[in-house]
Amino acid sequence: MKLQLIFLAAAILTLISSGIGIEAGSSEEDYIRPKPRKALSFPWKPKHSSEPQQVHISLAGEKHMRITWITDDTSSPSIVEYGTSHGKYTSSSQGESTSYSYLMYSSGTIHHVVIGPLEDDTVYFYRCGGQDPEFQLKTPPSRFPVTFAVAGDLGQTEWTKTTLDHIGQCKYDLHLIPGDLSYADYQQHLWDSFGALVQPLASARAWMTTEGNHEKEKIFLLKSGFQAYNARWKMPYEESGSSSNLYYSFEVAGVHVIMLGSYTDYDEYSEQYAWLKEDLAKVDRERTPWLLVLLHAPWYNSNWAHQGEGNRMKASMEPLLYAAGVDILLAGHVHAYERSERVYNDILDPCGAVHITIGDGGNREGLAHWYRNPKPQWSIFREASFGHGELKIVNETHAFWSWHRNDDDEPVKSDQVWINSLVGNGCIVGKKHELRKILAVL
Ligand SMILES: [Fe+2]
Repeated sequence: MKLQLIFLAAAILTLISSGIGIEAGSSEEDYIRPKPRKALSFPWKPKHSSEPQQVHISLAGEKHMRITWITDDTSSPSIVEYGTSHGKYTSSSQGESTSYSYLMYSSGTIHHVVIGPLEDDTVYFYRCGGQDPEFQLKTPPSRFPVTFAVAGDLGQTEWTKTTLDHIGQCKYDLHLIPGDLSYADYQQHLWDSFGALVQPLASARAWMTTEGNHEKEKIFLLKSGFQAYNARWKMPYEESGSSSNLYYSFEVAGVHVIMLGSYTDYDEYSEQYAWLKEDLAKVDRERTPWLLVLLHAPWYNSNWAHQGEGNRMKASMEPLLYAAGVDILLAGHVHAYERSERVYNDILDPCGAVHITIGDGGNREGLAHWYRNPKPQWSIFREASFGHGELKIVNETHAFWSWHRNDDDEPVKSDQVWINSLVGNGCIVGKKHELRKILAVL
């Protein structure tokens, strides 16, 4: 009898995993979805102790960028030399360094150096710690058009590499990551291999991240925090008046981008909420007509994976974002792609935000195949495949969004749409009073 039950359970699992009777995605009936791929392996390479490793860059206030790298030794200087010609470093900046220990693991020396003021839309050559190799970066433009690459839940599998290769082929100005970077969890050495994996792209264009659940170190009764993420991926929180690396904002080329934290307090009495109100009050839609938000756990998600996990944060913060006129909210967490109509409070609303879930960078956990049916009215396109997004803000009223599926290793544009801004469709004028009211009252 026991054996029969085991066989029955196995048969049910097989049926579920082969998708019989359950809709998996709704857009590509003939598409044979590739399987998850194995984790990348990183052979140990001896390094000179002061050699810069895991170089990545981020925006750090107007016309400034932060260069971050790691060395094995503790004596390398936190200095970046830079200039606009190959091998000619006309400027240099000094910064700070940090390190951390976690159980048996000790990190290398993590250097953070802010360089600038920098010219817009310009290639700079730079080197770290006073030694080669030389790296190249391009600063973002100061005016439209500006293009963002977007992919969350990256991890470090062969699919991650495919996604990064595809992003590397596109012409973009900076990369937005709605959380879950390395999937290190408490295995700290995986942060180092992730840093090495992304260096070719992350040393050349600003990578702007917010935290996901996999950034949170978890060991029962021992540690709970974001020690590795905060030390390694320092974002411009101080520059944007935030007291936490887990939420901040920045502006680029007519776009105000708010990075929220799904894994820190967000209720109306929280520091994050108070900071968000202050940040929204500073947004000037004349200067930055577009308003974007990124966070990890989606608020509009018709996938069974992580169903409802964003609801409490949504209940707390959606009225504020609606009053402020957020154009697009990008989330990760669910390992699939989904795009909504403009929506607010679960009802279609021309003055609500477009919600996009793009947690499909390629992590080890595989894809989230199973969707709720019937499809909610707000859900326009949903599909469980790995891939990345590109958001080209063309001018103050129009942006072109496209999602590129990793189809047999080729990037295939599978979803695309023109998005009109709330400034362009007249909603912002109508919301001014509402915003004033909510910022004053709450
Ligand atoms: Fe996640």
